[in-house]
Amino acid sequence: MAQKLPKYTVPSLTKQQGAEVAAILQQRLDSLNDLALTLKHIHWNVVGPHFIAVHEMLDPQVDAVRLMVDAIAERIATLGVAPVGTPGALVANRTWDDYSIGRDGAIAHLGALDEVYVGVISDHRQAAKDTEETDPVTNDLLIGHLHELELFHWFVRAHLESSGGALSTAAADGEKASARKAAEKESA
Ligand SMILES: [Fe+2]
Repeated sequence: MAQKLPKYTVPSLTKQQGAEVAAILQQRLDSLNDLALTLKHIHWNVVGPHFIAVHEMLDPQVDAVRLMVDAIAERIATLGVAPVGTPGALVANRTWDDYSIGRDGAIAHLGALDEVYVGVISDHRQAAKDTEETDPVTNDLLIGHLHELELFHWFVRAHLESSGGALSTAAADGEKASARKAAEKESA
């Protein structure tokens, strides 16, 4: 990974290590900025009988994710690297597509959001793993986020869960399929 080295980084890390950890964090910054925007998009586009529950459930998640974004950006700066927070850079560097659902029922959105959280959490866990040895402070930051992200994921999944504990989105492939499966199960 060819990166421009920072002029300084946190004590006990080499500049190379600082650059590597910052690069991992930059991806998490993009991912969570995207998540915060997506959660607001759902907050505005959810319709139907569960409107108010889902509309109101999402705002505290947005607030929490924005705090995570700020903490990640400031950790990148602490490591001696400039965090990139502009939307153009986010879109240019991201490896996933825009959230694909517009105005739709609550359960369809939650089915899709289940998929979104699976992606974000899997990548966050990988980033935590990749920084465990090099930078335990960054690792701790990411683990702290995971406590909240996984709790929010459960809030979403609890809407999709049967009394037997099965998810209506199980085995659905992709966001749209997941949304459709969740919505079908609800109307069945
Ligand atoms: Fe609002």
